[in-house]
Amino acid sequence: MAVNLIIGAQWGDEGKGKIIDYLSSLSDYIIRFHGGNNAGHTVVNEYGKFAMHLIPSGIFNKSAKSVIGNGVVVDLEVLAGEISLLEKHGINVKDRLFISPRCHLIMPYHKILDMLLEKLKDKAKIGTTGRGIGPCYADKVSHNGIRVGDLLDKKVFSEKLKIQLLVKNKILNSLGYPILYQKEIERVFFNLFDKIKLFVKEPFPLIHAALKSKKNMLLEGAQGTFLDNDWGTYPFVTGSTTVSGGITAGAGIPPTRIDRIIGIAKAYTTRVGQGPFPTELLDKTGDRLRKEGNEFGATTGRPRRCGWLDIELLKFAALINGFTELAITKLDVLDTFPEIKICTHYTMNGKKVSYFDGDSKFLSTVKPVYKTMKGWPKPVSKVKKYSGLPIEAKNYLKEIEKLTGVKITYISTGAQRHEIIKI
Ligand code: GDP
Ligand code: IMO
Ligand code: MG
Repeated sequence: MAVNLIIGAQWGDEGKGKIIDYLSSLSDYIIRFHGGNNAGHTVVNEYGKFAMHLIPSGIFNKSAKSVIGNGVVVDLEVLAGEISLLEKHGINVKDRLFISPRCHLIMPYHKILDMLLEKLKDKAKIGTTGRGIGPCYADKVSHNGIRVGDLLDKKVFSEKLKIQLLVKNKILNSLGYPILYQKEIERVFFNLFDKIKLFVKEPFPLIHAALKSKKNMLLEGAQGTFLDNDWGTYPFVTGSTTVSGGITAGAGIPPTRIDRIIGIAKAYTTRVGQGPFPTELLDKTGDRLRKEGNEFGATTGRPRRCGWLDIELLKFAALINGFTELAITKLDVLDTFPEIKICTHYTMNGKKVSYFDGDSKFLSTVKPVYKTMKGWPKPVSKVKKYSGLPIEAKNYLKEIEKLTGVKITYISTGAQRHEIIKI
């Protein structure tokens, strides 16, 4: 197993939670390193069905340790809620959950500003999850953040909050929103911190001791490559670095220590929120993908936009992340489609163009070129071995490997942990 980095190869919701839950049985450490509770990683296992937002999806392996790395932005209320939900299901996190004191706190004004800015932008909105992620990361880079570790000393937290409220209340006031009160925020935050302070511990020495003793690690990427703040479809992106390179900044793990980088891709493409989507299907086929794939957000419940698999995107994702392999999820969703299309490349004015040739506006005008493949006559969901897959499904997977140049090592054929084919 060694050190495995899991990265979404599309616009998020690729089924990372499912693959992480599956691989976690072989892991000693599972580490989140960016994003926050904008993530919703669905896990279906012997304990039930969970949408994990902050705590690593491998928490169900009771002998593994879980780390919320410094690059994660933390909503204390969501974190405390997640801990108590797990405990209710018999998953005790004591002594095996570590939260970096360097994590930035999502403050009440971050959530309000996220919502207000979206409202003001109206048609130009991003379609964020409304969890305060963007404003929190903006404060982090502009020296205005408050970190989890600041709560270790109430005076430090209060001083920092005071300065922030000085600024933030002016902004809220000018936007016609009621101001926030220091005492009220302190009351809520001190109370919440009491519930989680047990877990706040610098994970750096722990992680490096684990690397030294060659422990198995699963590094849980959130969101997906095309939501990356630099390389995604800006401005329709999230606030963090979602590509593989984010691991050092977000968890203190050097790039040279990563053994495998597993790109997770759905057998088709989805996106939530606004932004370009070249292979989007706004017709009955798109509706059918949504219905068969139950494509509704694990965090916000929003219907996901659906379309055919986009190889141009996967090729770029493979290059920028350095995928050593691919896991293809939701192959079963294509079971009832007599024909399946793959976008092999884009053209513009009759000429071949690449994803990196332009910005979001450019991407919204490219023409996807498709290759049509035959669907398969029997469902893949009960198939346990690659050899048992219908020839048409094998051809579809081979085509993905051929076009991306990356080998497929896992095929997910259902939401449950055991519904997977390992190649
Ligand atoms: P994540 O954010 O990448 O972890 O993905 P989400 O959990 O947001 O969305 C993936 C959805 O697909 C969830 O509802 C999963 O339970 C489900 N899922 C994952 N893998 C499969 C699969 O192979 N087949 C089917 N039918 N559903 C799957
Ligand atoms: P997981 O980890 C899918 C999208 C939002 C929006 C944009 C910015 O479950 O794959 P934000 O709230 O982050 O500022 O929103 O990013 N987005 C996701 N889409 N899956 C996610 O996470 C996402 N996290 C953010 O819909 O378009
Ligand atoms: Mg998700």
